[in-house]
Amino acid sequence: MTVRLRTRDEIEKMRTAGRLAAQVLEMIGEYVNPGVTTEQLDKRCHDFIVNDLACIPAPLNYSNAPGQPPFPKSICTSVNHVVCHGIPTERKTLKLGDVVNIDVTVIKDGFHGDTSKMYFVGQPSVLAQRLVKVTQECLYRGIRQVHPGAHLGDIGHAIQQHAEANRFTVVREFCGHGIGDRFHDEPQILHYGRPGVGLEIQSGMTFTIEPMINAGKRHVKLLPDHWTVVTKDHKLSAQWEHTILVTDRGAEVMTLRDEEKEA
Ligand code: MF3
Ligand code: CO
Ligand code: CO
Repeated sequence: MTVRLRTRDEIEKMRTAGRLAAQVLEMIGEYVNPGVTTEQLDKRCHDFIVNDLACIPAPLNYSNAPGQPPFPKSICTSVNHVVCHGIPTERKTLKLGDVVNIDVTVIKDGFHGDTSKMYFVGQPSVLAQRLVKVTQECLYRGIRQVHPGAHLGDIGHAIQQHAEANRFTVVREFCGHGIGDRFHDEPQILHYGRPGVGLEIQSGMTFTIEPMINAGKRHVKLLPDHWTVVTKDHKLSAQWEHTILVTDRGAEVMTLRDEEKEA
């Protein structure tokens, strides 16, 4: 396995891409309302990414595996029991009580910024609120493990420990990933694991952390569209994602939003 360490020039480009991806999540929040279709959210994000930010939406026409049809939209919208990679559609209208993950990846100057957050449509159930909060804490606890000399298993362990302490489960079939000039690069960042195990983390690595945490069992299934991943038991799932640079001092969150800066 070859894990690239980024040059100063590449890091500057990743910072730009990361900031722009974060801006999309900030922009779209006010449009996540009852009666809105996920297709309408996709169009708003697409137009903003292309026209206002002069970026390329990385998901559009993206395919990772042979035989997998290209992803037909510019963002992923994953509602309630959808774990990840939900395809925006005019057939999905948001309603009060829904929780939705919007996952944005932009390419600027050849480099990627990848980030997602959960949105509430009106007031969700107490369970949904707790799941979304714990999942964001899992992301932050994972990020806190990031420093040179630590191991990838430290990240996974911190996430798994916090999820399971709250009687939630960690999805294992999908993981974080190296990112840079490629969308999905080495290494894989598992959201479960054991301390001290796995690749040693080095300054200059760039990767995502994007835990998917389920309210019920951890098992998932792929829908016939070859993209949409749902929980097998149809219970709720949540996800948050950031793109991270490893520095000598720890993690620099390249996709940080203004709302996170005080925290
Ligand atoms: N943004 C997702 C991730 O975090 C990947 C989506 S691939 C797509 O890795 F094709 F569905 F967009
Ligand atoms: Co990602
Ligand atoms: Co993503």
